[in-house]
Amino acid sequence: MTEFHHPQTYHIITFGCQMNEHDSEVLAGMLDSMGFYQADGVEGADIVLLNTCCVRETAENKVFSLLGRLRRLKEKKPGMIIGVGGCMSQQEGMAARIRQGFPHVDLVFGTGGARELPDLIGKVTGRGSPVLAVRPDSGGIAEKLPVKRKEGIRAWVAIMYGCDNFCTYCIVPYVRGRERSRRPEDIVEEVAGLGREGYKEVVLLGQNVNSYGKDLDDSIDFAGLLERLDKLEGNRGVVRIRYMTSHPRDFTDGLIETIAASDKVCEHFHLPVQAGSNRILKKMNRGYTRENYLELVRKIKELIPRATITTDIMVGFPGEDESDFNDTLDLVRQARFDSSYTFIYNTRPGTPAASLEGQVSEEVKKARIQELIKLQNKISLERNREEEGREQEVLVEGESKTGPGLLAGKNRGNKTVVFPGGKELIGRTVRVRITGSRLAHLTGWQLLH
Ligand code: SAH
Ligand code: SF4
Ligand code: F3S
Repeated sequence: MTEFHHPQTYHIITFGCQMNEHDSEVLAGMLDSMGFYQADGVEGADIVLLNTCCVRETAENKVFSLLGRLRRLKEKKPGMIIGVGGCMSQQEGMAARIRQGFPHVDLVFGTGGARELPDLIGKVTGRGSPVLAVRPDSGGIAEKLPVKRKEGIRAWVAIMYGCDNFCTYCIVPYVRGRERSRRPEDIVEEVAGLGREGYKEVVLLGQNVNSYGKDLDDSIDFAGLLERLDKLEGNRGVVRIRYMTSHPRDFTDGLIETIAASDKVCEHFHLPVQAGSNRILKKMNRGYTRENYLELVRKIKELIPRATITTDIMVGFPGEDESDFNDTLDLVRQARFDSSYTFIYNTRPGTPAASLEGQVSEEVKKARIQELIKLQNKISLERNREEEGREQEVLVEGESKTGPGLLAGKNRGNKTVVFPGGKELIGRTVRVRITGSRLAHLTGWQLLH
């Protein structure tokens, strides 16, 4: 039996998406409320928590290799508590696998584990033996948990949890459970509070925010929620609202109109397309065709000409041949995305696509992603060049790493803008004339009138 002397400090390492980053802010909030202090690194921590991701195998491998390194640290510091939580733990059989392969892990908990943390830490220290606490459903919603936010200008706010879409390649619905929405009043209260605390931007999080409200009794949908948040406290407090991620399938005309009419909701549309071939989109269970998608892009640009549109694209889904891949390239040319996150399809055990015929070789996948990135980079540069000469609103986030005396912030389209200015502007919105463009950022001058 391990002796755990009173732990005092903690350190959390997070993998994966913004939802996970935000979950870690809740884990940190819980640990703070239990009287622990945050340590800068694992060396100074009595409790080390890994908040994990399993969307691709690379994410899992990072966790396994970190656990290997933590084993050596724990040999020197046997009283240290190591916990593994989040999406990876939630997979069937994973808790047992972690226990077997990494006996120095003291605690395994799932995606809904934050609320139970005091109890779980108490069990580990009391029993001195490992605790496996993954619940088969990560369901329910815990309100009013403390949140310790990382940043001071932008705040993440979860508006719903889970996903019911079951895209055939994706593990998320299995580890995050069914879709469930927070009550609008709770979200409005949280956002209003963030405004009072000095936050300028909120990012509303959900695996598919367009489904917001479908499971609630109140007749509110995502557009309705945006309208309520947009009206909140005039021009004080939160001045920008972003959201992610929205599914192209249920992005209604009404939603585009709401965004066009609102002051605070930014004109940035992140719409993961995944593939440009109808045959592949069908096999992915995405629920739209390339024509539907391009029509959506057309409508957005018609109503909001300066909107930026970004996407996620995957290459090498089972059965993807040259002509399917050419359809993806063609869609990218037509949609002219401002930028794309590109991924190589990775088999996730337990998902329907894992057992499909026609798995594509790694060599072909690599060649395709390189071709896709080359095309996207060319278009991104062209799109950024179109911004030159424009006057834009920039929310200043901090000093730029690109050089002394430079500030960096985001324009409403979510592009980084670098310009000369003093630190007193951090946290403020300023007008900037765009004068230059690179692949990953724009440059400009502050307008003083
Ligand atoms: N709910 C969001 C995000 C899902 S995960 C959405 O629907 O857009 C983020 C991205 O990871 C996805 O958009 C997809 O492009 C990619 N992804 C998901 N599963 C994958 C897999 N098995 N292999 C490769 N990429 C994957
Ligand atoms: Fe995964 Fe599809 Fe849900 Fe996104 S919408 S989380 S890709 S199942
Ligand atoms: Fe990964 Fe879970 Fe997010 S699998 S991408 S951390 S929802």
